[in-house]
Amino acid sequence: MRSKIIAGNWKMYTTPTEGDKLADELVASLKNMDLGNKKVIIIPPFLHIRSIASKFQGIADVSAGAQNCHQETEGAFTGEISAKMIKDAGAEYVIIGHSERRQYNHEDNELLYNKVRAVLDQGLTPIYCCGETLVQRENGIYFETVSSQISEGLFGLMPDMIGKVILAYEPVWAIGTGKTASPEQAQEIHAFLRNLLAGQYGKEIADNMIILYGGSVKPANAAELFGMKDIDGGLVGGAALKASDFIAIIQAA
Ligand code: 13P
Repeated sequence: MRSKIIAGNWKMYTTPTEGDKLADELVASLKNMDLGNKKVIIIPPFLHIRSIASKFQGIADVSAGAQNCHQETEGAFTGEISAKMIKDAGAEYVIIGHSERRQYNHEDNELLYNKVRAVLDQGLTPIYCCGETLVQRENGIYFETVSSQISEGLFGLMPDMIGKVILAYEPVWAIGTGKTASPEQAQEIHAFLRNLLAGQYGKEIADNMIILYGGSVKPANAAELFGMKDIDGGLVGGAALKASDFIAIIQAA
């Protein structure tokens, strides 16, 4: 049985001081919670990782992640952060290919494949994002869009590696807009992604892949979304910045 994962992507919100405070609030609730087969991942800005990861040490099934990394291990790349550094700071997951990075930093599938490799090389888990824009949805090309994001960004991986990746479907039109994909719309794409994986790597690997949904997940809609057959949890943005909302979403899973 696949476990449920609730990941909170803090994006470029919170100073280190505010991040510590939010993490302390989360620790206070999470340390008394029985997570069962759920896992919780907190993904703050790079600067906060070391401090926040140490706060979660000792709380089972709660860990830290990063929002991006460079594709090389080290080098003269001013301003960049490598997966090796992220690992040493205490994080276990790295988001790769978030739509905001695809859009604002022009990251394409080929580059993202190299980033996924860099993350896996460090023994960390990539959370690889895909999702269509509003125009792509309205033009009816959303299957093609996610299909090329997945095949170009991931299908170079050997079967023993793809199983270490977490997928996240985040329709761009639902991110930060308050407009959530309906559970049926999300399920349709999640099932499509699982089928795509089965075609490339076989049914067993596809059945074991964790596929998260992201895009305006809130306490009020989480249970319905997470109740769908192929939705294995959420990648939460805005609602992850308020401890009570994030905890409510975890409880809904
Ligand atoms: P929101 O939950 O704010 O829509 O953001 C989703 C997201 O981009 C998570 O990575």
